[in-house]
Amino acid sequence: MARTNLAMETEFPPPTEQPNVFPLSWRQGTAKMEEIWAASRREVWDPAALSWDTFDPDSYTWEEREAIAYWWTLLSVFDASAPPVFANAFIKTYEDHEEDAVRRCFFSVTQDEQNHEQMCGLAITKLLGYDDPLTYEPKTDLGMAAQRNAKWLYFNGGRYWEGYKQAVPKYPLAVLFSSFLMGEIAAATIFHQMAEGAREPVFQEAFTNIGRDEGRHMAICMSLMERDYPKLAVEDRSLITKQIRAGYLFLSAVLFEPPEDFWDLPPDFIDVQRRCEAVARDAGFHVPEYEAKKENWRQAILNLKGVLDKFDIPFPAIPEVGITGEEINDVEMEDIIPVF
Ligand SMILES: [Fe+2]
Ligand SMILES: [Fe+2]
Repeated sequence: MARTNLAMETEFPPPTEQPNVFPLSWRQGTAKMEEIWAASRREVWDPAALSWDTFDPDSYTWEEREAIAYWWTLLSVFDASAPPVFANAFIKTYEDHEEDAVRRCFFSVTQDEQNHEQMCGLAITKLLGYDDPLTYEPKTDLGMAAQRNAKWLYFNGGRYWEGYKQAVPKYPLAVLFSSFLMGEIAAATIFHQMAEGAREPVFQEAFTNIGRDEGRHMAICMSLMERDYPKLAVEDRSLITKQIRAGYLFLSAVLFEPPEDFWDLPPDFIDVQRRCEAVARDAGFHVPEYEAKKENWRQAILNLKGVLDKFDIPFPAIPEVGITGEEINDVEMEDIIPVF
């Protein structure tokens, strides 16, 4: 291979073509991002260090264990895909030569989501006595039906990755993560509710920590929006509107109920999920009821709408929770930018 020895010919190297993959600068900008980063260091937690010694899966029936494990599996369809999603976005903060604190904040989200994924894995493994909910041998009829649900969720959740990878280099961070805020607001609320209602100390601790993490993610997203939306290109506005609708459809599966026209699921899916949730609830694992989830979701969406209205970005119609706006009909799993 021919190798040019520029250093033999010139005193200084030629300028590195920009933008290259990383800056060699630590530009300060958004003060709020520094605060969030500092909080993320103070609030680091370790899923393996929670009080697992107080948790005895044998104190539950197999139906209860499988029902609670189903809920963690549902969550892990989102949280197990979050580390690669945010790792990719984290690389983008370097390619874009983002502010120092913004790079660190995306690093913290990647780490948090890795923690959430680990928590899902620990809970599922202890509940089922097995480390893979898709190949586990169910012990009850409900467990059987729940596993079929889980397989469909997993199938659906795998479909956005190629589209996401193509979208990341094309759009600014604040556009990519426009529906992130709504997800984080709703997630923060639902996890706080689950922490309050949880009977098991270990789940209570986990939900408190996860809810706190999601609150920080929300603040990161908010700071990014406040920094970038005032100078947003006109063509990016309609993409944001579409992303909000996509975010609603995608995240509804865990924060509310999966919309049929978007998620490819068997007809008895929702019935099975509701049965699992009822069994889990009776066993002291507090999954909010349908109406509570709906109201939580609606409030999160209205919060986001309040933010977007400030920047004159049209909001999509979300008739499922009674919100009017621009009709968006052509959203596919393939063009979703997943956020959690
Ligand atoms: Fe998460
Ligand atoms: Fe998050």
